[in-house]
Amino acid sequence: MQLVAALKARLRGRLTLRIEPLRAAHSAAAAALHQASFARGWDQPDVARMLAEANILADAVIAGSEREPSGFVMSRLAADEAEILTICVAPHRQGQGLAKLLLERHMDHLARRGVAKLFLEVDAHNTSALRLYRHFGFAQVGERPGYYALADGSRALALILQRDLD
Ligand SMILES: CC(C)(COP(=O)(O)OP(=O)(O)OC[C@H]1O[C@@H](n2cnc3c(N)ncnc32)[C@H](O)[C@@H]1OP(=O)(O)O)[C@@H](O)C(=O)NCCC(=O)NCCS
Repeated sequence: MQLVAALKARLRGRLTLRIEPLRAAHSAAAAALHQASFARGWDQPDVARMLAEANILADAVIAGSEREPSGFVMSRLAADEAEILTICVAPHRQGQGLAKLLLERHMDHLARRGVAKLFLEVDAHNTSALRLYRHFGFAQVGERPGYYALADGSRALALILQRDLD
């Protein structure tokens, strides 16, 4: 295990990462990450309100000795199913494996809470997100034409993906 962790750290340019629950104290930083990632980003009260819900599970990835997250993922649970509401990583930290680590650990947390099926919606043109989800074996189970409103006023197809959790 230590060898795997060391190799992963080397691949990430020796950036050490830790996964922690996303807390209310992180809500301003999480809102800033969300706004940097999406045309209609959440604001701090949005994030704080969702974190206060009992059926929300959210994890943060924190780099090195930093106090604020470099990315986070948030899911809503309902019985033995859950939906990933969002996942985002700071633009300057993308492409270094943060989302992979975050999603892997988040799925472990969801499974421990009794989630058997995990769903999400993704813009059909979001290459990096699709690569991330395919890496974890998500499969397409539906689509919603014109679901996403883009900054230029056009609308994009959403794919609905699903994966069973062990
Ligand atoms: C999607 C996102 C969370 C990925 O985070 P990340 O930390 O950069 O991802 P990772 O470094 O862990 O890489 C995961 C996969 O995405 C690929 N990837 C990362 N950045 C990429 C890019 N710019 N272009 C193409 N692929 C990319 C990686 O190569 C990897 O795929 P692989 O396993 O085939 O090598 C990040 O790009 C992001 O925050 N995007 C904006 C928000 C968003 O679109 N969220 C998803 C909403 S459904």
